[in-house]
Order: sequence, then structure tokens, then C-alpha cells
Amino acid sequence: MPEVTGRTRLYGILADPIHHVKTPEVMHSVFARHGIDGVLVPMHVAPDGLARALDGLRVMQNFGGFIATVPHKPAMLGLCDAVDGDAALIGAVNCVRREADGRMIGAMLDGIGFVAGLREAGIEPAGKRILLAGAGGAASAIAFAVAEAGAAALTIANRTVAKAAALAGRVGTTYPACTTAAVAEPEAVGDYDLVVNATSLGLRPDDPMPLDPAGLHAGQVVAEAIMDPAETPLLAAARARGAAVHPGLPMLRCQIELMARHMGALA
Ligand code: ATR
Repeated sequence: MPEVTGRTRLYGILADPIHHVKTPEVMHSVFARHGIDGVLVPMHVAPDGLARALDGLRVMQNFGGFIATVPHKPAMLGLCDAVDGDAALIGAVNCVRREADGRMIGAMLDGIGFVAGLREAGIEPAGKRILLAGAGGAASAIAFAVAEAGAAALTIANRTVAKAAALAGRVGTTYPACTTAAVAEPEAVGDYDLVVNATSLGLRPDDPMPLDPAGLHAGQVVAEAIMDPAETPLLAAARARGAAVHPGLPMLRCQIELMARHMGALA
């Protein structure tokens, strides 16, 4: 815990529930590494109090910004005064900067953090054929970020195929250089350079696989958006077939510095 004085700049994380959040510890290690006099505190806000909480934070002049997590990411989009990047197209905001005049500027950094984590591990999405399982919040953020990063082709596979088609349409319109497609069940998983699980399947031990791993092979990368467990059954199956695996945790770790930057704590 950093020392707090009258000069310390305040930041927050808004969530409901709040007890499980690890962001304060992780952000404080970033602050310590960069010599930043800041503190990030957990703020337990229920959905029906979100707009009022935001109004309170607008008038706190030593408040720099906050992280928004479950269940606040979609609602936060409508409450910000402006948003950066693809947040409006993704439909969610997970980090907000408070400007000196109290204006709140949102960004959605989940997908950008995912791409930063890939690149840190030496995996470059530009020019790649990507299969993305899922079309919910996490998948939307990742879809826009890999297309923005220069993916050549993106196939989105989702149980509710209409959601995959809508997402593929939005991504394809925004990044026409990326060829997009939508399917209910992925066929030929071996045809892709990079396979990403962004469904919630793998969080619980009795979940079915998000896709059939039988066709996976050496030379492919299989990546997870799930952070806990670190090794999902999909990653274990991919590893057993010789594919390289990329776990979910780097997405969060790489995002922390991006969040510190967006909130103006880091130059
Ligand atoms: P998150 O914010 O974590 O992305 P979400 O927006 O609720 O959560 O999205 C969950 C994703 O996991 C969706 O793609 C969902 O598929 P549907 O759009 O068809 O609901 C997928 N998912 C969850 N449970 C699933 C299951 N039992 N079988 C297949 N897909 C599932």
C-alpha cells in the first residue's frame, strides 16, 4: 500500500461485487515502478447507483479516473462524455479518464490488452487467419483489436450465430482489409494461424470445450481470454497436439499499463 498524502492522486475500480478484484495490488506495483504518487481504491457500486457515482467522481478534483468491470462495462459507454478508439462499436468501456473540467473519457482496452499480450509473447496478429470462438463482450473487444492490428481474416464462431454475424459485419465495415465470416460451429480448426477462445467455456471444470480440438496441430497458436484457470482444457488439448498456447493472464497484465496511461497516471 503506497503512502497517501494530500498530494496523492486518486484512482478507482468500480465493480459489483468488489471483494475479488486484484487491480489495486497490480496497479500499485505499476505506480511504484514508475514513481507515481497515486492510489487506486476499490469502489463497490451497484448498477442503479452508477450514474450518481460518476457524477460524484466528476467533481473530485484530485481524481484521475477509474477502471470499470463486471457488470458496468456496457452501461459505462452511455455515461461517458466521449470515448476513444472502437469503444462505441464494441459497445463497452472499461477504463475512464477524468479530465480537469470533470468530463469523463472512456476507452475499451480488453482487446488492445489481448493484442499487447500476444505481441509480448512474440505472436503477431497482422496478416494472420484467425478463428475467434465467442461473440459476447470479451470476443467483441478482441475482434476489433485483432482487425485493427492487421489480421488478414477473422472467422467468428458462436452458438448464437446471429450475434457472430452482427459482430463480423461491424468489424468488416470498420476494417475492410480484414475478411470476416460468421459460423455456428467452426469446421477445419486446423486451417487457422491463430485460434482464440473468448467464450466463457472453460471457466468451470465441467464446461464443454468451446471448439473441437481434434484438428489442431503444430504451427498454430491457441490463445485464451479466460484467466482462471491458467490452463483450460482447450489449452491442454492444443498443447497435446503440438500447437503453441497463449494463456489469458497476459491480456490483463498488459492492460494495466495501458489503463494507467489512459487515466493519465503514466505519460
Ligand atoms: P463475456 O463478457 O465474458 O464475453 P458474454 O458477453 O456473456 O460474456 O459472452 C459469453 C460468450 O460465451 C458468448 O459468445 C456465449 O455464446 P452465446 O452468444 O450463444 O450466448 C458463449 N457461451 C456461454 N455459454 C456457452 C455454452 N454453454 N455453449 C456455447 N457458448 C457459450
